[in-house]
Amino acid sequence: MHTVVETDVLIVGSGPAGASAALALSTYGVRNMVVTRYASLADTPRAHITNQRTMEVLRDLGVEDEVIAKATPQHLMGNTTFCTSLAGDELGRVRSWGNDPLVQAAHELASPTRMCDMPQHLMEPVLVNAAIARGTDFRFSTVYKSFAQDEAGVTVTVEDRLRGDEYTVRAKYLIGADGGRSKVAEDAGLPMGGQMGVAGSINIVFDADLSKYTAHRPSTLYWVLAPGATVGGIGAGLVRCVRPWNEWLIVWGYDVSAGAPDLTEEYALSVVRQLIGDDEIPVTIKSSSAWTVNEMYAETYANGRVFCAGDAVHRHPPSNGLGSNTSVQDSYNLAWKLKLVLDGVASPALLDSYTVERAPVGKQIVTRANRSIAETAPIFEALDGLSPQTPERLWANIAARKDATEAAARQRAALREAIAFKVYEFNAHGVDLNQRYASAAVVPDGTPDPGFDHDPELHHQPTSRPGAKLPHAWITSGTRTLSTLDTVGKGRFTLLTGIGGEAWLRAAEAQPLDIATVVVGPGQEYEDPYGDWARLGEISDAGALLVRPDGYVAFRHADAAEDAERLLTDALRRILGHG
Ligand code: FDA
Repeated sequence: MHTVVETDVLIVGSGPAGASAALALSTYGVRNMVVTRYASLADTPRAHITNQRTMEVLRDLGVEDEVIAKATPQHLMGNTTFCTSLAGDELGRVRSWGNDPLVQAAHELASPTRMCDMPQHLMEPVLVNAAIARGTDFRFSTVYKSFAQDEAGVTVTVEDRLRGDEYTVRAKYLIGADGGRSKVAEDAGLPMGGQMGVAGSINIVFDADLSKYTAHRPSTLYWVLAPGATVGGIGAGLVRCVRPWNEWLIVWGYDVSAGAPDLTEEYALSVVRQLIGDDEIPVTIKSSSAWTVNEMYAETYANGRVFCAGDAVHRHPPSNGLGSNTSVQDSYNLAWKLKLVLDGVASPALLDSYTVERAPVGKQIVTRANRSIAETAPIFEALDGLSPQTPERLWANIAARKDATEAAARQRAALREAIAFKVYEFNAHGVDLNQRYASAAVVPDGTPDPGFDHDPELHHQPTSRPGAKLPHAWITSGTRTLSTLDTVGKGRFTLLTGIGGEAWLRAAEAQPLDIATVVVGPGQEYEDPYGDWARLGEISDAGALLVRPDGYVAFRHADAAEDAERLLTDALRRILGHG
């Protein structure tokens, strides 16, 4: 007998995109099922940089503390070092990932959270365990094969790899979170731009006590400029800390046109030895794998009832650490919309805003990550190290920067400048936080786009203009200090107002959906003792912000309004896709 299993949302894949979709949906009380190809979660560290926006998402989903407890903290992440090997010459450092004092201040002002280093093999269990605890039906060793959709749902054929048979899952919606070789995206015919297989890379995971070379300049990344380091790969050789200072992952390139080298233990050891530069250090190779640098993004993230998220729709190198962050944020954007549509509160038209809002972000991060690779070349250029040459010549060029000559002084200046320019990879706070949406799920308030006062890739600029994320400000409630972001989320819309905003509160109560209300002001449930919210909110006390479940401002009215109920009702009708 052919089994048919029913669910509301079927998710293919248990990586950062699939696991966070499951967690958000279960948190919101939506019936969901995950099928995933293998018998275990990620068994290698893979993605790791976890930015503030992702931490805000995890905070709302109730797993921030667990992630912090397991992650390497921010202060150990950020002396990105350029060197000839760990034991060799140091060429310079970039204070990274919010560890520059000025950037650190910007991080503290932007968010209640801190970024951290959470390797994927530790992150996935946190997300999946919480999802299962909240109701996700999770099926390992189950492979997506095909789907067919009709007006009422999606019929998906999956293969149970243990039993060796196939069965059918009938779902109302399907999420393809099946990674960079997504079959769901292919079957859905999602149009892709860009190119796969731009360069070849090898990951080598190993154990070694490298504290002698790293603990005094703690970092997540040590970049090695050595002979062969510009062939393929991600711009240079990379020694990445997985756990300080004993677990490591090396990324090393290969010529993609020649194919991946034979990944023997001997080969892996030779690469590790070259990048460490000290043969006395005991090394245990744990695994090696080859992958390619891709530069692809989908123009459309959905086809009917089928949605794709994560690497399924944006494929790029690890530069800037954007892979799992963007994947988690895709799913967070989609989950509340599915919830409201499944509940019958929103029209299916709301789901159109998923592509409109997230596809530009996907394109932006693919472009940024690949540009970051190219921006490593000037470091080699400063050392006259790009053109084909012998290792001896490269070492001589690198040594020449120590000379007391004008040419050496120029070389030192060029090297400093090239290394400093890498802030666009290692301190791109704006890339992490500046996403602003323009879609039907956001109601413009007629104000002009404030744009950005500073470089939008490097600097975050908060605004409460509809389409932007609610600005973070520390407020209080009794003895508790909390972020404005802590007052929103949990799968609900929230209306924020202040003294004199009673008409907005009545308008919120009159709506057919559950809207949380927040009043900030002296003697109210929430107070603004620092005046931060008054400065950042960009509304008067009697004005209102309507914030979506994902923390984005959907509607803003700067002042009191006599017809608040009509204004809010009209806005919600548009946001929820009812025309
Ligand atoms: P992800 O690839 O994580 O997950 C896809 C999921 O779908 C998996 O659970 C898979 O088993 C499942 N699946 C696929 N096909 C299926 C099917 N037909 N049926 C059922 N299940 C299916 N990034 C970074 O920043 N730094 C790094 O060093 C690395 N290194 C790295 C190494 C390797 C080997 C990989 C594969 C990837 C990286 N990445 C990385 C990229 C990073 O891991 C990636 O951006 C995120 O994991 C994307 O998350 P997703 O959930 O979208 O896909």
